[in-house]
Amino acid sequence: MPSPSGPPLVFKNVRAIDPHLGLDAEVDVVIEKGVITRSGRGAASSFEGLAAAKVVDGAGRWLLPAFVDLHAHLREPGYEYKEDIASGLEAAARGGYAHICVMPNTKPVNDTRAVTEMMLRRAAEVGGTRLHPIAAITRGQAGQELTEMAELRAAGAVAVSDDGVCVMSSAVMRRALEYAKNFDLPVIQHAEDHDLTLGAQMNEGATSARLGLRGWPRVAEDIIIARDVLLAEYVKARYHAAHISTAGAARIVREAKSRGLPVTCEVTPHHLLLTDAAVIGYETACKVNPPLREESDIEALQNALADGTIDAIATDHAPHSSLEKDCEFEEASPGMMGLELCFGLLLELCSRSPLKLPRLIDALSTAPARIAGLTPPSLREGALAEVVLVSPEATWVPKTEALASKSRNTPFLERTLKGRVLLTMADGAIAFDGLKS
Ligand code: DOR
Repeated sequence: MPSPSGPPLVFKNVRAIDPHLGLDAEVDVVIEKGVITRSGRGAASSFEGLAAAKVVDGAGRWLLPAFVDLHAHLREPGYEYKEDIASGLEAAARGGYAHICVMPNTKPVNDTRAVTEMMLRRAAEVGGTRLHPIAAITRGQAGQELTEMAELRAAGAVAVSDDGVCVMSSAVMRRALEYAKNFDLPVIQHAEDHDLTLGAQMNEGATSARLGLRGWPRVAEDIIIARDVLLAEYVKARYHAAHISTAGAARIVREAKSRGLPVTCEVTPHHLLLTDAAVIGYETACKVNPPLREESDIEALQNALADGTIDAIATDHAPHSSLEKDCEFEEASPGMMGLELCFGLLLELCSRSPLKLPRLIDALSTAPARIAGLTPPSLREGALAEVVLVSPEATWVPKTEALASKSRNTPFLERTLKGRVLLTMADGAIAFDGLKS
């Protein structure tokens, strides 16, 4: 496998698209020792190292800045039967990701330097896609005592979050925002008023009434985001809302941004594509938290993504085994896997929604990198090679036996997707090479 020390890599006649460079052109891109050294029309023919290079035919393919995921659950330590760092990073590489930020709801919770360091050590052993731990906001994600954020930051955490549960106390949230600000750590909130969602199984509406399942009202999300925006404004701190799912959440974030507040948010592929009708039949693969909403929310989320109100697309890759999913709906754990499917699921939105391709690429790569404080992947000459080669026309079908993740909890198995990741470079080396198979 070519590495920073391996032979040069040349993408010939590829459509290179990097919205932040204003680049959208058919060019050759040369990578030597893990760095993009040349890019331009005919750049390969004047490259003296061509004979020794691995040459990839770029015709009909796109080369993009590799993707960055702000929100994945890799389950190690503690739940390695669902996913571990090795299988999760392999899934990420197949999905086009050079970087993934991983949530702390492991066992033990990542609320200490020891767990953060262990995750980084394990990821370094595995190689490929880079892993960035997100540490907990509160000890044990119990919502009371703040973690040692200075220490966690020094150990390598890029953000803090109690994802999976909400920081319910306004006082604790205020202190978290104030404290995290000292270390420039974004505070990522799982926005859910647990008093309003007690026992909830799915979105509250006509479908929950029909299925006899207790509903999770939209206002439980909106109320927390509205409160947090006020707190972030009050203490002048950065705030990021995870996996927003409602039209109301998009409206609150839009208003906050219009007032210049340092508020950002993300959306998942499933909240952009599926309504709560997908739950009919008690489909546990479609049980997620926050729940799938309704057509009007999807439309609002797609518009908010298109106009930049929603900064980033995050997978919320949440692998669960058949133990947690092949059971009664009320017993099932919420979550859907997403790393390997995200690009193939979302590309089609560019042809049937207000979302345009440059914004999609930004939301998958540059915008999340900036939120996490990472250097955004770029196609500029001199940049570290963190690129993804995709075929926009290739159709493919996610098959149970062909996924790298240990889990299979997605309703998108056996669906035909258009747009496929062919090759991913992370940290200057090839992390996934789908051209070989
Ligand atoms: O659906 C979800 N699953 N939402 C979360 O916030 C947590 C996640 C998990 O850890 O499974």
